[in-house]
Amino acid sequence: MRTRVGIIGAGPSGLLLSHLLHLSGIESVVLETRDRDYVEARQRAGVVEHGVAQILRRSGVGDRMDREGITHHGIELRFDGRSHRVDFSDLCGRTVEIWAQTEIVKDLTARRLADGGRILFGARATAIEGIETDRPRVRFTHGGEEQLLECDYVAACDGFHGIGRRSLPEDVVRTFDRLYPFSWLGVLADVPPSCEELVYARHERGFALHSMRSEEVSRLYLQVPNGTDPDDWSQERVWEELSERMAVPGWELRRGPLTSKSLTPMRSFVTEPMSHGRLYFAGDSAHIVPPTGAKGLNLALNDVALLAEALRAWYTRGETGALEDYSATALRRVWRAEHFSYWMTTLLHASGDAFEHRLQLSHLEYLASSRAASTQLAENYTGIPRP
Ligand code: FAD
Ligand code: DHB
Repeated sequence: MRTRVGIIGAGPSGLLLSHLLHLSGIESVVLETRDRDYVEARQRAGVVEHGVAQILRRSGVGDRMDREGITHHGIELRFDGRSHRVDFSDLCGRTVEIWAQTEIVKDLTARRLADGGRILFGARATAIEGIETDRPRVRFTHGGEEQLLECDYVAACDGFHGIGRRSLPEDVVRTFDRLYPFSWLGVLADVPPSCEELVYARHERGFALHSMRSEEVSRLYLQVPNGTDPDDWSQERVWEELSERMAVPGWELRRGPLTSKSLTPMRSFVTEPMSHGRLYFAGDSAHIVPPTGAKGLNLALNDVALLAEALRAWYTRGETGALEDYSATALRRVWRAEHFSYWMTTLLHASGDAFEHRLQLSHLEYLASSRAASTQLAENYTGIPRP
């Protein structure tokens, strides 16, 4: 099998890349190890940055987000039994869309297939060869048979556990890693949200986040120790703990049946460079952020918008500059998001250390009293515009 761009992974980054390339007349094939139902149901992120919403709209896959998603103009920080609203529209003139990753994946998959795109579900990439030549190849298994995808370029959009990173020569790679001593227990609940905007709460018992999927479905998270078994958390215990951690006078948390429970470990991770020879990385295959800043999905989609532009410059005008600069350009945004996610995480999670606890409260009070401090949160959360 032969194509121009071989894409490994049909998560948000692989699908959007394939779609953007198609709009520029560039053919691609997407290999995805899982089946379509699994990929479309995987519960993950829920906040879309201002600029990423624009990328989806401009490429014709933003209609349902604009009809069914919810535009948010700010978030609420809670600490010490009080609350502070960060007003994005006022502070930086931008907003975010509350629109789930599952829905983005469903729309992109449907659009690719309607446009005649080739997504091979159940196709597991096993090796990437010849990345230092101009004829790279991806070996993969599909329907029990070993097959070969020959291409001009390979895009590793295969997430943190994919094979892309392992295909780089050891002497060209540098990785940066930070593990945190806590995880998030995430739940979906069939109950209308108890707040109009997302609530990020810092409490001595641990962090809590109230998000939402729609007017009827709430998404909530609790900081828990690493290795926690979600089965140890009954519905009653989840609601009690959320109520306690998010409590402010005059506010009540609505309760309802939980429809899913899962654990997400927290990690920061970056691989440099994000390209080598004819192999390019996008999304979680190259970097991971702890989810506190809502950046993982947004970084992944920003990466592929950049990569698609660079490939278009090459295929339509023969220009190589943007492809050569891809790694350096993408990494600038990645490191900004890494810092913001690390900062939000260490600001809001309980470590059990009394000194850190005082520093967190001091910083939160500063955020609540300083327009300059709140503005830097607003600028980073809504996504710094691309130059
Ligand atoms: P993925 O979505 O991981 O997609 C990679 C795809 O590649 C997968 O479909 C995988 O099956 C496929 N693949 C892997 N190996 C192969 C192979 N060898 N051959 C073929 N296909 C392969 N971000 C937030 O902002 N907020 C959150 O609340 C949040 N929660 C998260 C919870 C979890 C459990 C995880 C894992 C991530 C979460 N994230 C969150 C991060 C966000 O979802 C990711 O940043 C985003 O999914 C990255 O998209 P991606 O396309 O790069 O990778
Ligand atoms: C959601 C996840 C996040 O990590 C976050 O910071 C905000 C919202 C969510 O799943 O809705």
